[in-house]
Amino acid sequence: MAEQIVAGPTAAAFAAATEAARDAGPTALPAFAHAADAGPMLEAEELARHFDVSRPLLQRLFAGEARRILRAVDGVSFSIPKGTTLSLVGESGCGKSTVARLVVGLYPPTRGRVIFDGQDLAQARADSAQRRRMQMIFQDPYASLNPRWRVQDIIAEPIRAFGLVTDRGAQRDRVAQLLTQVGLSPLDGEKFPHEFSGGQRQRISIARALSSNPEFLVCDEPTSALDVSVQAQILNLMKALQRDLGLTYLFISHNLAVVRQISDRIGVMYLGRIAELAPAETLFTAPRHPYTRALMEAIPDLDMTGRKRIPVGGEVPSPISPPPGCPFHPRCPLANERCRAEVPALLPARGTPESVVACHAVEEGRDHIEAPLAVAAALS
Ligand SMILES: Nc1ncnc2c1ncn2[C@@H]1O[C@H](COP(=O)(O)OP(=O)(O)O)[C@@H](O)[C@H]1O
Ligand code: SF4
Ligand SMILES: [Mg+2]
Repeated sequence: MAEQIVAGPTAAAFAAATEAARDAGPTALPAFAHAADAGPMLEAEELARHFDVSRPLLQRLFAGEARRILRAVDGVSFSIPKGTTLSLVGESGCGKSTVARLVVGLYPPTRGRVIFDGQDLAQARADSAQRRRMQMIFQDPYASLNPRWRVQDIIAEPIRAFGLVTDRGAQRDRVAQLLTQVGLSPLDGEKFPHEFSGGQRQRISIARALSSNPEFLVCDEPTSALDVSVQAQILNLMKALQRDLGLTYLFISHNLAVVRQISDRIGVMYLGRIAELAPAETLFTAPRHPYTRALMEAIPDLDMTGRKRIPVGGEVPSPISPPPGCPFHPRCPLANERCRAEVPALLPARGTPESVVACHAVEEGRDHIEAPLAVAAALS
């Protein structure tokens, strides 16, 4: 089932809640020098991850079935400069979480590689001094926090595991500092996860992720389970932490409105590939790929013009048997014979050179249809 890409809060509600959260006061952070080196923190080169979802061999032989390979991620490349945020957005099942897992080394790639601060990830993972430099934050903080541990032990675990601070008193001080950094009280360390609200639990996850002094955080739908005003507070906290600690983020969401608040650049994913990658504002003001344009039409009305929100229609095809050529062609009003036969390469877009777009129509300059609405209308 295709999930609506923008479910829930409007972008306007987000902006208002963000503003309100900002007014609520500072996050009590120590001032850190920003990383002056703007080289890439992370590079993904033609990353692919396929899963064998075949039935057991005997059953397959009996039924005369071929092996079934699911292409969750199928050739994704990007680079994230230090101190910046790249967001990946796309409908459920397009491969976002699989990219996140590849990037932190939880899955080995089927093809391609990840370079972390100039070093192959496989080598970086083998070295605990390197491993502590990247951490991951998940959507459901309750599932990632041990319910039987006190918060202070949850947060201290990476400090102990990486041997960062050995003295018990110093560990307690560090945990208190982290709790303050994420807007909680040092006294909260005595409590258990169930004593907190969803937003507070996500703050605990962030404190735990920060406890190993990482430079790079992979955040997989970190605010998707939270109410809109709480989402805005967590996004503001993440932005403040990025500014003060010089962090680099790979941020993942199915919600374009959330992604706009936090991103320097945004990659739109479709069926295991990147359809378009652009600076955040460019993506919103000049979307080029027909899929991105359709997603923009699905965003709730920003300026209250009374425009009707048009959801992206049609189903995402199965990654087990993706369509040949451009994976979007069954849903695309601009599709032609070339689209049905040839996979489009990610190329700088004519007229919007800071955007890279995988679309034959954009490459050929035949994407200037009158009303972008036509794209979404044709999809529904
Ligand atoms: N461990 C796995 N085994 C088999 N299929 C998987 C596995 N993990 C993810 N998939 C499939 O890969 C595709 C992409 O999944 P995922 O990366 O979780 O997408 P997203 O995070 O964008 O919703 C989906 O079709 C999903 O069912
Ligand atoms: S390559 Fe063709 S099918 Fe794919 S998005 Fe572009 S026009 Fe549509
Ligand atoms: Mg996911």
